[in-house]
Amino acid sequence: MSPDIKIENLDENNIEKLLFVCSSHRLEDPVHREGMRLKKDWLLEMLKNWGSVAKIAYYRGMPKGQILYFPEEADKTRVIKRRNVVWINCVYNPFPEAQRLGIGRKLVESLITDCKKGEICGLGNVKFLLAKAFNTGEALSLPEFYRKMGFIQPPGKEPSNALYLSISGEYEKGPKQEKYEPLPEDKNKAIIFYSPICQFSYPFAVRMRELIQEVAPNLPIKMINEWKNPEEVIKRKSHGLIVNATPIYTFFMAEEQFKNEVKQALKN
Ligand SMILES: CC(C)(COP(=O)(O)OP(=O)(O)OC[C@H]1O[C@@H](n2cnc3c(N)ncnc32)[C@H](O)[C@@H]1OP(=O)(O)O)[C@@H](O)C(=O)NCCC(=O)NCCS
Repeated sequence: MSPDIKIENLDENNIEKLLFVCSSHRLEDPVHREGMRLKKDWLLEMLKNWGSVAKIAYYRGMPKGQILYFPEEADKTRVIKRRNVVWINCVYNPFPEAQRLGIGRKLVESLITDCKKGEICGLGNVKFLLAKAFNTGEALSLPEFYRKMGFIQPPGKEPSNALYLSISGEYEKGPKQEKYEPLPEDKNKAIIFYSPICQFSYPFAVRMRELIQEVAPNLPIKMINEWKNPEEVIKRKSHGLIVNATPIYTFFMAEEQFKNEVKQALKN
């Protein structure tokens, strides 16, 4: 490993460094800081229950990259959980001066090494890794990156388009994405879920609330922390936004399309 790159497991003393990697440009934004606070609470709970669930990469002593992972068994929002399966939630190196130096690769390789040694979250043997392969449009996309790291499309697609890498076992299919059935209690309101795993999730939820209020100023809106209220997520089949008992699919950043879908849901 380049002597300039150092990888460290998460512990109670370096949480702020992990948060800094993803948030260095948003430290002044109070809504984003609330997302950071929620994530810190979540990380402390995970550290207590599972040990390290992240790694920080330092380049010349400065935190520049991170990887976040946890066992499927730890996921409170899932009903059926595969044993000895580890999810990579994200890998991120947002610093152009530190990109393409091997930081992303070292983070993934360090996780794979720990999995092979049975040193991840107290699991012992890890069967396979699943990586959430989403594209934010920034730097190298995660689908491209994970494929470079040897991850492949599992046979029989995972609902979240995840890619997988075998460690000691073969891929096992997860449960099918279930369909949301309209709940009477979801009528005439909006329910927005946010996750404490990512500090962007809460600010995104706040923006969704603002957009919904533009369309329907008097509509009651409930904001729910997914990990604090997993039964609410499970009841709604993991849909992130329900308006008037209708799931909304448009990503909120396509604002006009998003508002049109919300309007349509309110007419239903
Ligand atoms: C994916 C990412 C972590 C890679 O970080 P990195 O430190 O630059 O990665 P590495 O230097 O280890 O490069 C890994 C491989 O990708 C290649 N690569 C990295 N950036 C690249 C780019 N912009 N274009 C093409 N290839 C690229 C490297 O050349 C290397 O390939 P090789 O192993 O075949 O030589 C970084 O680009 C990133 O953060 N992208 C955004 C990911 C994201 O959206 N995360 C979630 C945020 S919420």
